[in-house]
Amino acid sequence: MSKERILSGIQPTGGSFHLGNYLGALKQWVDLQESHDAFYCVVDLHAITVQVDPKILRERSLTSTAQLLALGLDPAKCSLFMQSHVPAHNQLGWVMECLTGFGEAGRMTQFKDKSQKSGADRTVVGLFTYPILQAADILLYQAKYVPVGEDQRQHIELTRDLGQRFNSTYKDIFTIPEAYITKAAAKINDLQDPSAKMSKTNSSPAGVVDILDAPEVNAKKIKSAVTDTGREIKFDSAEKPGVSNLLTIHSALSGKSIADLESEFAGKGYGDLKGAVAEVVVEYFRPVRERTMELLKDPAELTKILKVGADKANTVAEDTLKKVYDAMGLIPRA
Ligand code: TRP
Repeated sequence: MSKERILSGIQPTGGSFHLGNYLGALKQWVDLQESHDAFYCVVDLHAITVQVDPKILRERSLTSTAQLLALGLDPAKCSLFMQSHVPAHNQLGWVMECLTGFGEAGRMTQFKDKSQKSGADRTVVGLFTYPILQAADILLYQAKYVPVGEDQRQHIELTRDLGQRFNSTYKDIFTIPEAYITKAAAKINDLQDPSAKMSKTNSSPAGVVDILDAPEVNAKKIKSAVTDTGREIKFDSAEKPGVSNLLTIHSALSGKSIADLESEFAGKGYGDLKGAVAEVVVEYFRPVRERTMELLKDPAELTKILKVGADKANTVAEDTLKKVYDAMGLIPRA
């Protein structure tokens, strides 16, 4: 039986992915490449919806690629590519823009949040059409599942609506994808504000564990995590969000169940828990950090890997785009 197709994307923001990115999504990417026909892209075109220094973007794109490989993506098992290396994303993006209602796009909560923060004058049209490009990313590959975090659910709903709209208006071309959001994906919160999601844009640096940071830096951040009143080490996200967050991190990386950790730490103090979590995090990411540095020493090899991915992606994407153009009445070039 042929494997089911999945597609996902991640922005090359920040120099390093953080613990929340890894446990919320990237760890699943690594697992899913075994069981699925996986396409993963670094969405550099989405990254330019906010202004970014060209040199920094270039660096981030390569660092993101190196990190994904170091975390375990295997180019022999999945197609890993840069979004901008596959022109069909923009081409189908335009088609999808022509199928999207203005009000429909305006209802996207991520757009509303982001545009509110920066104000109307600094909000670019690309931020408004961002989810439509994302729909094109997904529909091009006829993906059945899209492994993403909970925050992307609305964008996947839009993708489904647009795919269905195209299929019923023109021709049944698109696979209608489903968000793949499992319980296994752990939601990791900010170390300093454990009621909020760990996120580069909303958290202070002290609340975010960057995978590529030096072991001492990360150990220190974890040891300075905000914990709760009381002294018992028990999972209770309402009453003990700080302790629960630390238990979640430990469990996700060590593979031990929360219940086992609770008994392991029975009678011990918050300091013991923090020390143990720091150790688990540091040891888990030490080889990832080393491998990333090593890969970054050879950018030519990284671009070669991306080329292989882009070639595979282009074949699939062009085939879909051709069918779409034809179904809409755009005549092919001789
Ligand atoms: N918007 C996604 C995020 O912020 C990134 C993304 C872009 C994406 N294109 C995608 C995710 C396609 C899944 C599929 O996380």
